[in-house]
Amino acid sequence: MPSIPTSAIGARITGWGRALPPKVLTNHDLEAMMDTSDEWIRERTGIERRHIGGTTSGLSIESGRLALEMAGVDPSEIDALVLSTTTPDRTVPATSATVQNALGLKCGAFDVNAACSGFVYATVVAHGLIAMGSKKVLLIGTDTLARITDWDDRNTAILFADGSGAAVLEATEGPGQLLAWDLDADGSAEELLYCEIGGTIHMDGKEVFRRAVRIMIDSARKSMAIAGITADDLALVVPHQANIRIISAACDRLGVPMERAAVCINETGNTSSASIPLALFDAADKGRLSPGDLVLLVGFGAGMTAASAIIRWGV
Ligand code: COA
Repeated sequence: MPSIPTSAIGARITGWGRALPPKVLTNHDLEAMMDTSDEWIRERTGIERRHIGGTTSGLSIESGRLALEMAGVDPSEIDALVLSTTTPDRTVPATSATVQNALGLKCGAFDVNAACSGFVYATVVAHGLIAMGSKKVLLIGTDTLARITDWDDRNTAILFADGSGAAVLEATEGPGQLLAWDLDADGSAEELLYCEIGGTIHMDGKEVFRRAVRIMIDSARKSMAIAGITADDLALVVPHQANIRIISAACDRLGVPMERAAVCINETGNTSSASIPLALFDAADKGRLSPGDLVLLVGFGAGMTAASAIIRWGV
């Protein structure tokens, strides 16, 4: 298991932003579109409503701008833009190019695609850039899954939605916020959840559910072991917002009470790359985090990927 060299330069989050498209699609709206019910969707997924619309670049520009403003960082100071997305605006160029130009950044920009684990992957990549000399990195997680959802398929249409979350990471003296990380993938499971180019999402929901809990807790345990902490030390768990039953089962098996989980799936649905930053910064904006708190980010997604990170908030 790779661990962070003690000589590495650390980073801290100095600003963040969230963006959701204005259009809200409720479970009742879905009732009018397909054979489903508000009660079924709430009970089986925890989702009540979701936001849909906009483009990946548009939402990224919005969340990225808010993060820069909060950090008090001028766009010219950013050394790299890392955009996690599985729904780029175009195949080429990377959507980060559009975002870089619109935000007035003068730096390298690239996309990362690790499906719903993408934001944690991109967080690790951004810390790697800082360890290698970058001073300020803009990290964004955005997806517009509504565009690749089959709105006649009640198996998937009830789950997926659009959103974006962004953070400014700045190099810091000492080890910084990231204490440990783990990135996993099992490509042999790719047929469980996929979308062909130009197509819509296909999913074996039951099997994804079954594996999700296991791979999330496996990854989380690896990160906790590297950080030398236990579940009792965690102030907050920020899981991928895919299904409240997956979140609850994972917390249960990790031994973390649900009160210590960040949950916004009821409002957002599954926004893939945006899911973890939306939940993390929602918790931060609600005052749920204090300096020094240990936070577990843990995701899973198509691939099947899984990823986790332990961060010490506010260092
Ligand atoms: N509305 C109403 N009924 C529905 C329904 C819907 N949207 N979808 C399925 N059903 C019905 C089924 O037909 C079935 O009926 P039956 O018992 O008469 O045959 C019943 O509800 C149970 O279906 P099932 O597929 O077993 O439901 P489930 O409990 O597995 O829930 C998911 C389905 C998709 C919500 C769940 O499997 C899931 O969340 N999986 C993980 C998906 C995920 O996280 N994907 C993203 C990964 S990043």
